Amino acid sequence: MIKKRKVLVLGSGGREHAFVYKFHNDPLVSEIFCSPGNGGTGLIAKNILLDLDNHNEIMSFVKDNNIDLTVVGPENPLADGIVDSFRKSNLIIFGPDAFCAQLESSKIFARDIMSEYNIPHPKYYACSNKQEAMEAKNTLGLPIVLKADGLAAGKGVIICNTESEFDDGLKHMYEKNTFGEASKLVSVEECLIGEELSVFAVCEGKNYKILNTAQDHKRVFDNDLGPNTGGMGAYSPTPLSTNSIITQTSRNIIEPTLKAMNDKGHPYSGFLYVGIMIVDGKPYVIEYNVRMGDPETQVVLPLLESSLFDLLYKSATESLSDVDMQIADKTAVTVVLASKGYPNHYEKNMVIDMQIDEGDLVFHAGTTIDKGLLYATGGRVLNVVGFGNNLQEAILDAYKISNRIKFKNKYFRTDIGQKGLRYK
Ligand code: AMP
Ligand code: GLY
Repeated sequence: MIKKRKVLVLGSGGREHAFVYKFHNDPLVSEIFCSPGNGGTGLIAKNILLDLDNHNEIMSFVKDNNIDLTVVGPENPLADGIVDSFRKSNLIIFGPDAFCAQLESSKIFARDIMSEYNIPHPKYYACSNKQEAMEAKNTLGLPIVLKADGLAAGKGVIICNTESEFDDGLKHMYEKNTFGEASKLVSVEECLIGEELSVFAVCEGKNYKILNTAQDHKRVFDNDLGPNTGGMGAYSPTPLSTNSIITQTSRNIIEPTLKAMNDKGHPYSGFLYVGIMIVDGKPYVIEYNVRMGDPETQVVLPLLESSLFDLLYKSATESLSDVDMQIADKTAVTVVLASKGYPNHYEKNMVIDMQIDEGDLVFHAGTTIDKGLLYATGGRVLNVVGFGNNLQEAILDAYKISNRIKFKNKYFRTDIGQKGLRYK
């Protein structure tokens, strides 16, 4: 008989609910803990409150409860070196160490690696003051991108189409302290114009497997208007990911990135999320993330047919090549049901009325359960997932379920996936 394993998932969003859901349905897993979790994870795992900044507290919990595998959702614990701490204590965790996490936590570190290893990327200048940024603009011209070097909760990027947007952007980076320490250094970049997609890989040293591709919808309103959010919806896979794009991404981006980390004495372990812009049929790196995306995980993981535990555990223990990974030949769409006003001010504590059928898949993001009632307690509240044999079917399924869920101030985009239909 196989020994069933215990898992700890760190984080509290829809992404983490998707991890917990996969482990819940995994015959290799006996018990799941999620910290801090949300209303949805609490239904199928044990939510526990641990301080995600306190590695010792987390490791004590792991030892006391004989956890076999820890999986990290968000980027901050990775950038803070939680993987380094676990490894020093011989505890198994899936994720990159702090050195590799710089691929996300320092945009300049990432661009310098791309430059050193000839990985296709936009021209960029590392600028520590306004004067340097203005000189970079004289060379690159408009439109231009300003990117805070450090972690800024996904908000540190300003795209400037005009001189006045550029002046304003410089003020946010260097004067107004909008991004705090993150913009002490700024990557001033050529603005690439093309189609954007994300490629997700599971990596162990120089080995990797591509999990799937997806396309996010970052702006809050339909037709990609309004402010940037954490993501209002996604679909997987995207028709942009042709064989040619996948082959070029593997050879020209993922393999040299893994080689770079290996050469520098830090073999990469963990998810690698490559944000790509396709320009004239060629993929360029917009950004790396060293974790899964949110809400992309909510469409990528349900399409994984084989065991998530087997994939991550073997990967964390250096036998990724032994994994037989199976991906469903279907399309998934997720629609984020948000509280109106997100990503700015929004109301909380509205009761949610879930009129869904058994088998409908809804991941929770900002929810809490209190005395048997479900409350919306975050900006992104729920992630409805629809499936189909093609994108059109999956879109219809996701919106059918989205329309049945009721709460005051419910807001969602009505065009998730439409971009994908246009590529076909
Ligand atoms: P990020 O936070 O790095 O994902 O950036 C947010 C968004 O800004 C990306 O999803 C792209 O749409 C856009 N972006 C970032 N860098 C560039 C670039 N160099 N050229 C064009 N668009 C970019
Ligand atoms: N959905 C974008 C991200 O997770 O960074």
